[in-house]
Amino acid sequence: MIIAVDGPTASGKGTIARALAAHYGLPHLDTGLLYRAVGRQVFLSEGNPDDAGAALAACAFPESLLADPELRSEETGGYASRVSVHPAVRAALLERQQAFANQPGGAVLDGRDIATVIAPHADAKLFVTASVSARAMRRWVEMKQLGKDVERAEIEADLEARDERDRNRAEAPLRQAAGTALLDTSNLTKEMAVATAIALVEKQL
Ligand code: C5P
Repeated sequence: MIIAVDGPTASGKGTIARALAAHYGLPHLDTGLLYRAVGRQVFLSEGNPDDAGAALAACAFPESLLADPELRSEETGGYASRVSVHPAVRAALLERQQAFANQPGGAVLDGRDIATVIAPHADAKLFVTASVSARAMRRWVEMKQLGKDVERAEIEADLEARDERDRNRAEAPLRQAAGTALLDTSNLTKEMAVATAIALVEKQL
């Protein structure tokens, strides 16, 4: 069984994908981490994320980079969003994601283009979304817990810039695929969002 979970940053898609994987006993891949690793590698080698050549070279990042805590930072998220517009970068990461999706027994993948590009044949597809203000609030709380004091307005502006880039890029833009169930988590607790996600998956099986 393959479950595809797509949506913008801080929509709750990661939490939902992890919970679905635990519920169905499936392996889970957060595909954003791969783009974040590429972005981080460009940053570490002092390259320009808007340069396709530099971004492609960074796709050969060492596996150990996937455990770098800096991968989760907003700065790396911005770099990830910039390297992910290059078709060569997306092509370089495609096979790894498809191999994960198609492993025997199935998998849960979350990202931006799982239902549209990576696994259009997935058995269940969710598009998880939430209002910009709800997403900014969650990010702000997360940052606060990490001891980082960032203005909510600044987080909101960053989220909007990233959404804009992810939705409007030519290659594999973020969009809700046909046959995908929409789940808006703006007013849901984590527990309610997970329960709703499971119900939406069950309906598609
Ligand atoms: O989901 P996350 O915020 O970790 O993703 C970081 C960035 O990686 C996104 O803003 C997006 O530009 C890119 N990405 C992508 N395709 C995916 C997953 C992430 O383009 N499947």
